[in-house]
Amino acid sequence: MSESSAPLVTMSGIDKIFFDKYANRGVDFELERGETHALLGENGAGKTTLMNVLAGIYNPDAGRIYIEGQEARFASPKDAIASGIGMVHQHFMLIPAFTVWENMILGMDSVPFVIDKRNVTAKITELSERYSLPVDPGAKVSTLSIGERQRVELLKMLYREAKVLILDEPTSVLTPRETLDFFSTLRRMTAAGHGIVLISHKIEEVLSIADRMTVLRRGERAATVKSGETRKETLVRMMMGHNPENLRRKRARFGQTVLSCENLSARGDRGAISLRGVSFDLKEGEILGVAGVAGNAQDELCETLAGLRSPDSGKIILRGENVAGMGPREFIERGVSYIPVDRTRTGLVPNMNMRENIALKKYWRKPAARGKFMLDWNFLDDLTRSLAEAYSIQTIPAESPVRALSGGNLQKLMLARELSDKPSVILAMHPVWGLDVGAAGFVRERMMEERGRGAGILFVSDDLDDLFEMSDRIMTIFEGRIMGIADNPSDFSRERIGLLMAGMAV
Ligand SMILES: Nc1ncnc2c1ncn2[C@@H]1O[C@H](COP(=O)(O)OP(=O)(O)O)[C@@H](O)[C@H]1O
Ligand SMILES: [Mg+2]
Repeated sequence: MSESSAPLVTMSGIDKIFFDKYANRGVDFELERGETHALLGENGAGKTTLMNVLAGIYNPDAGRIYIEGQEARFASPKDAIASGIGMVHQHFMLIPAFTVWENMILGMDSVPFVIDKRNVTAKITELSERYSLPVDPGAKVSTLSIGERQRVELLKMLYREAKVLILDEPTSVLTPRETLDFFSTLRRMTAAGHGIVLISHKIEEVLSIADRMTVLRRGERAATVKSGETRKETLVRMMMGHNPENLRRKRARFGQTVLSCENLSARGDRGAISLRGVSFDLKEGEILGVAGVAGNAQDELCETLAGLRSPDSGKIILRGENVAGMGPREFIERGVSYIPVDRTRTGLVPNMNMRENIALKKYWRKPAARGKFMLDWNFLDDLTRSLAEAYSIQTIPAESPVRALSGGNLQKLMLARELSDKPSVILAMHPVWGLDVGAAGFVRERMMEERGRGAGILFVSDDLDDLFEMSDRIMTIFEGRIMGIADNPSDFSRERIGLLMAGMAV
């Protein structure tokens, strides 16, 4: 076999196991020169893992990798880079305090003894013109927008002469306009002979750019198809699997409406409208699942409902009162609890100890507040102790910052704080993300108990299994709009909700 006729990349029979669980199992994957090959799959399907194997970050437990027909064994990412593999991770790996050109050469093995800034800069400028990736080589990365940082990551791969460019969910940080520019850059790259692996779960987008698509499902390859020969519906079905396991749990008897939204709109962090005219009711004793691919305004929805973000228009009615435009304290006082997704940024303060974290939601109210600027620390100590026990949170010294706790314990602490006042509305975003099985089970049970107590729960997730298990109704959100609300467990079909999540009417 001549070298030039072999595919750029061949992965064959790749297994990757994490703690007894297959993240990849027997996966075959191939990439040709000049090809954009999309890797599709639900969250947790094993896409990132497979590409981390190709990028030399993980050692596969079985299987082989060939680059242009030659078997390759990567002991580290450096080996993969030397073989022409470049990966742009979901979380960028640039150093913000350094300039663009400094970031280019950082970590390269062959950095010359004397760095010629002019040479580096000239090469960056040349690449950035050739591939239409405008960026100022002298700019500090910390001053760049997300879109610009992504261009720097791409330039860094090109600078290192990567033949294979792996892009992990690159468009999730881009606006639709930026995505169009980004895709035209990708086309220039494939025209120049590069092979691109595009990880995504946005089917629509993928169909517009990819030559082929490989669908992963639960770690295994479900199919590889050409994009001209495939319908969206077929792809969704392949991503979700065929099991139309419709729900087993009986729908609860609901009480009164505890929260209703009328035509609620809000802007995202970039100032553009992102939540678009959302209306729904949440009842006592109900878990209303919110299904959607991350980044479809779920954050804006929850933040608006928690009083952390002002709506642009519309009403938020809590037990008959329109509270739209009020601040977070007013929402807390009316019984709204928020369990955000980033536990240690908006949820807890890692450098504070447990009782201080508990106090964050209570310091202005009795019984924690004693007089105007006084806290009743005895009360807070007792409360912290009893919550730690009730939620079986790992014991750490009272003065230790909570950053010493594991993710599961942090989430329990968050629940303890958020649920201790018996809220009537609970906004829970991905409450079991990143938790081990034990902690996840605990969180699910606590949510069911709250539901039994009569709380109305908005449960945001992108995991259909979790949504089906927990929800009484499932509302699907896409680009800030409600695509539909499944009222009945018999409407909980993976295919149906999968299509809605991809923005397709059913
Ligand atoms: N470093 C890791 N340690 C343990 N489990 C992991 C690790 N990375 C991924 N996993 C698990 O492997 C599975 C596949 O994850 P991933 O490849 O990130 O999926 P995707 O990128 O398709 O969302 C998931 O169940 C995930 O929890
Ligand atoms: Mg991933």
